[in-house]
Amino acid sequence: MSVEQRASAAERILAARERYVPRGVATPALVVARAEGARVWDVDGREFLDFAGGIACQNLGHGHSTVVAAIHEQVDRYLHQCFMVGTYEPYIEVCRRLDELWPGDAETKSILVNSGAEAIENAVKIARAATGRAGVVVFDRAFHGRTSLTMAMTAKLVYKDGFGPLATDVYRAAAPYPFRGVSTEDALASLELLFKQDVAPESVACFVLEPVQGEGGFIPMPPEFVQALRRICDEHGIVYVDDEVQAGCGRAGTMWAIEQLGVEPDLLVSGKTLGGGLPLAGVTGRAELMDAVHVGGLGGTFGGNPVACAAALAVLDALAEPGFAERAAQIGSHLRARLEEIAAHQPLVGEVRGLGPMLALELREPTPDAAKATTAAAFAKGLLLLACGLDGNVIRLLPPLTTADEELERGLTLLEESLGDAGADRG
Ligand SMILES: Cc1ncc(COP(=O)(O)O)c(C=O)c1O
Repeated sequence: MSVEQRASAAERILAARERYVPRGVATPALVVARAEGARVWDVDGREFLDFAGGIACQNLGHGHSTVVAAIHEQVDRYLHQCFMVGTYEPYIEVCRRLDELWPGDAETKSILVNSGAEAIENAVKIARAATGRAGVVVFDRAFHGRTSLTMAMTAKLVYKDGFGPLATDVYRAAAPYPFRGVSTEDALASLELLFKQDVAPESVACFVLEPVQGEGGFIPMPPEFVQALRRICDEHGIVYVDDEVQAGCGRAGTMWAIEQLGVEPDLLVSGKTLGGGLPLAGVTGRAELMDAVHVGGLGGTFGGNPVACAAALAVLDALAEPGFAERAAQIGSHLRARLEEIAAHQPLVGEVRGLGPMLALELREPTPDAAKATTAAAFAKGLLLLACGLDGNVIRLLPPLTTADEELERGLTLLEESLGDAGADRG
């Protein structure tokens, strides 16, 4: 038998990946064959519990029956029209549902695009068209995407190093991070300084903020910070853009995380779970802002693809069911209680934090080593886990919000053991 034949299916596919896909796209060791609910099987038949959820795209779990059925139905009807060539109802219906689900009183309109980054780009275009201003204010540890504009808005070197020149008119202020000593007052003072040093508030089109910072380390924004930003926006005619790409669609326990922060945004950006696994993202906002852009100024070939829209309608129905919110709340309290328990006796852990069931552990050391060792140990035990944070030292939990108690408990036990292994490795 040749060496090639003896290699596992995963090894063979990963070797081909090495040959044909550039290293810039980071790839884990997992090679997926199928997935269902909170479980994933690899091409060699190994089963994994999925606490990564396709980075928050699977809040409803893999292969949710009504989402899959809606996709099948739409596939048989028509696949692609291009919304600017032949309009179709599923797109309009998603926009109508997003209006119903708007976290506030405003009358809204929406556009649909292919990715979170594209949606953020469009939100900035809309804010600029509506205000006639160029400035975009973003915050420390933000992640808004990898396109030319959004990499300038994102606050982590790996996503932008060597890819310049970066977009201009993007300004950064501090965001609260209590665990590392940055209070709401500190963050607001940094914004005040920004207004004196770099850009006048009258030149700012929008603030863009994640209600719970995702890639930046699952840091929930304090309600008083978000409310203060809202007041500053109102005072200076700045558009408040709420980036719910990761924290939205039920991840933090409510449809939109900002519902828990007591603020109505001007524009809300959704993505990830919205398409149930198909590429779909949206910008929803006050109708007069959305209509500030001239005819033809928004759009794209695949944006709001009918199959992705059909999936989204089923996703939004499932997320709006009272049973979903109830289960999400139960999962949130179960996870938090167990993470606190783990933190109490695991010296690697510095803080448990998050909002609702969007939870993470920040490890004490601001280096990625222990988090990497933990996710690697978890993988070896059959648990998919992701790290995040500017220092790569935060372990975030993104299990589907439909995960069964037994699976949650098993995943938490594997997490605890993996932290134990990482701690032991580090002496
Ligand atoms: C908060 C936030 N905004 C924007 C994006 C970009 O979304 P996409 O990867 O779909 O372009 C992400 C992706 O992780 C995100 O977490």
